[in-house]
Amino acid sequence: MNITVIGMGYIGIVNAVVLQLYGHNVIAYDINKDKIELLKQGIALTDEPKLQDLLGEVGKSIRFTSNAYDALTPNSIYVIAVDTPTSKSGSPDLSHFYNVLDEIIKYAKDDSYIIIRSTVPPLTNSKVREYLNSRSEYKFSVLTIPEFLTQSTAIMDELNPSRVVIGAVDKSARELAKKIYADYAKRNIPIVYTTPENAELIKYASNNFLSMKISFINSFAQLCEKVGGNIDEVAYGVGLDPRIGKEFLKAGIGYGGLCFPSDNKTLSWFFKENDTPDDLVEATININDSQIQYFVDKVLSKVKSLNNLHIAVLGLAFKGGAEEVRNSPSIPIIKAFTDKGAFVHAYDPLAIDSFHQAMPRMARVRLFDYLFDAMKDCDFAVILNDSEEFQNLTPQDFKNHLKKPIVFDGRNLYPLDAMKGIEYYSIGRPQLK
Ligand code: UGA
Repeated sequence: MNITVIGMGYIGIVNAVVLQLYGHNVIAYDINKDKIELLKQGIALTDEPKLQDLLGEVGKSIRFTSNAYDALTPNSIYVIAVDTPTSKSGSPDLSHFYNVLDEIIKYAKDDSYIIIRSTVPPLTNSKVREYLNSRSEYKFSVLTIPEFLTQSTAIMDELNPSRVVIGAVDKSARELAKKIYADYAKRNIPIVYTTPENAELIKYASNNFLSMKISFINSFAQLCEKVGGNIDEVAYGVGLDPRIGKEFLKAGIGYGGLCFPSDNKTLSWFFKENDTPDDLVEATININDSQIQYFVDKVLSKVKSLNNLHIAVLGLAFKGGAEEVRNSPSIPIIKAFTDKGAFVHAYDPLAIDSFHQAMPRMARVRLFDYLFDAMKDCDFAVILNDSEEFQNLTPQDFKNHLKKPIVFDGRNLYPLDAMKGIEYYSIGRPQLK
């Protein structure tokens, strides 16, 4: 099938390469000419594992373009994957999304199908149908097929999803989705056919539920510290119940990234808009926000003054293997340290560009290319994400490179037994001295 994917952000490029791999003819469109030029040269724009390989394999067959006419006129199936940022109030900013709809109205030359893969608030699908069909001579059928990609495993997630949710109102749209995603049905991957409204709600409910599990375990972690418990053992015992499940029960400094924080804000706004109590969503957000101060307070309670101390900060991105520092707990934590007069030696090679963009003038912060250089002569280390490189560190590494082997682990990366011999503080577990 001939399909145009619109928006070459992280969701868009993953969709483009996977659809091409499944034998469709993909046109990949973005208004950013520089991005398109790089993609034409076969350069993936992120370090997402397997993306570069897949682009090498199928990229030559994809037609990348930044020309709206070239992208939108030849085809009549459009996959929209542009970003939909969230404002401070939680209401979504759909301006990019509606610009795309306007371009489609301008350039489409036939009745068309629109597949929404951008995360949009519930009820958007019906508004989009209304918007398009009242402005164009052609008929538009609009599907909502939410994505469930996780950064750093996005390609595998798109190739092997736990389910494919297809929200469509008419039979022809469902038939179209069946053809596009035929490969999933062959492999017995569950396909959920539902209304667009349900599909939109499924996306938000999934992200809210997962982040709620994180806030749940983090609030229990605080309790564990008060009563001498160990949150890892509690989470293990709880997670063995298959009705609960063991995933997303890792205590730490909270969730970050471009999805959970903004989706929860939008969801809270949407509950309020619809006059429905949003206590659970609010609690999820509040507990997550409080984990940051909780971690900073933990450091301050052990190290009385941070003035002129040098702190090795291991991990800037919101999780290991990711590049994104927007909405990462590392940013407010680093600010809290530097506000108190500390110097930060930060290490996260994947996140350097993102950090510079997010924090262009951060005095007192120096980024290092090598882990042990960042740690060298620091008064203590804090661990802020679960990068594999950090998981392999041993007490001897901290002894060798820090002034004193003192570690505040915001991600509970090591079993307590493995950290004997150093001063080690983690989340919801006994401290080691
Ligand atoms: C999340 C969802 O997991 C995806 O299913 C969804 O498609 C995506 O959002 C999206 O809406 O596009 P992502 O934000 O890439 O994916 O990252 P996650 O791996 O879910 O991690 C989110 C945050 O939660 C990270 O900061 C991570 O460190 C934290 N986390 C995760 C915990 O603190 N504890 C856990 O047990 C798991």
